[in-house]
Amino acid sequence: MNTKKKITAIAAAAPQQVAAHDAGDISLHASRLSLALEGKNILRDISFSLPAQGINVLIGPSGAGKSTLLRCLNMLHTQWQGDLQIMGRDVRKWPDSEDGLRRTIGLIAQKPTLFPCSIQQNIVFGLSRKDRNHMPENRIKKVLKQAALWDEVKNRLHDQAATLSVGQQQRLCIARALMLSPNMLLLDEPTASLDPRSRQFIEASLLELSENMPVLCVTHDIEQAKRLGGKIIFMCDGRLIESGDSKLFFKHPNRIESREFLRWSVCDCS
Ligand SMILES: Nc1ncnc2c1ncn2[C@@H]1O[C@H](COP(=O)(O)OP(=O)(O)O)[C@@H](O)[C@H]1O
Ligand SMILES: [Mg+2]
Repeated sequence: MNTKKKITAIAAAAPQQVAAHDAGDISLHASRLSLALEGKNILRDISFSLPAQGINVLIGPSGAGKSTLLRCLNMLHTQWQGDLQIMGRDVRKWPDSEDGLRRTIGLIAQKPTLFPCSIQQNIVFGLSRKDRNHMPENRIKKVLKQAALWDEVKNRLHDQAATLSVGQQQRLCIARALMLSPNMLLLDEPTASLDPRSRQFIEASLLELSENMPVLCVTHDIEQAKRLGGKIIFMCDGRLIESGDSKLFFKHPNRIESREFLRWSVCDCS
């Protein structure tokens, strides 16, 4: 092959090589992430990685920077410093930029945000018109089952989403995120304002989903973090204080800040 042909072949192969980039067992790697907002350091030198599957819990007191960190991971905040690799790719060089990244990473907010239309229309909302028109019903059923909502809505898919309880609405948001076939799911205190039954459904659903993809769930609820298990990341005052196996963390926290938080649910490091 002459040089020109070789270069063309390499260029043509490049996107695929990037797509198939072998990140090994790591789905996300953040290195020295820092962010200042309005002159205040909100995130300070945060480094951690997430495995390719499994549940990860980001815990810390209110104001620790948990939501801000999630927003950096899917580029809702872009002005951070440091290095962030997702699926082995630098997020700043993501092929179809932030939209593509947000399809890869589903983000569920604390309060369910639905559109004023039917349950089914909400589920397919993020899809292209073509995909919406050719959406097989079993796909809708699958994501609703994964979100532990199918049994409650199977006979009322055309009802307005607003007629659902808040707990059901949150599960609908999870189903909608799953419809885009994300590679990773981020959730920001997804059960903070829900009844215990909905909380139980969502925790079970997250554990099941995490068998096939990495799930990062933010909570300030120590009992919820214990139930979810997996890997824990403890943050306080914009810093990552301690991370590792959840069971070990709760049994033998290494840092004084962790012990204080586990005892009082607050931390005095600011
Ligand atoms: N857009 C913003 N501008 C300035 N400060 C912000 C902004 N967003 C969040 N903060 C501050 O960053 C800190 C961390 O907030 P947040 O990430 O919401 O914490 P958490 O989710 O752990 O409760 C808080 O002190 C908050 O007031
Ligand atoms: Mg928050």
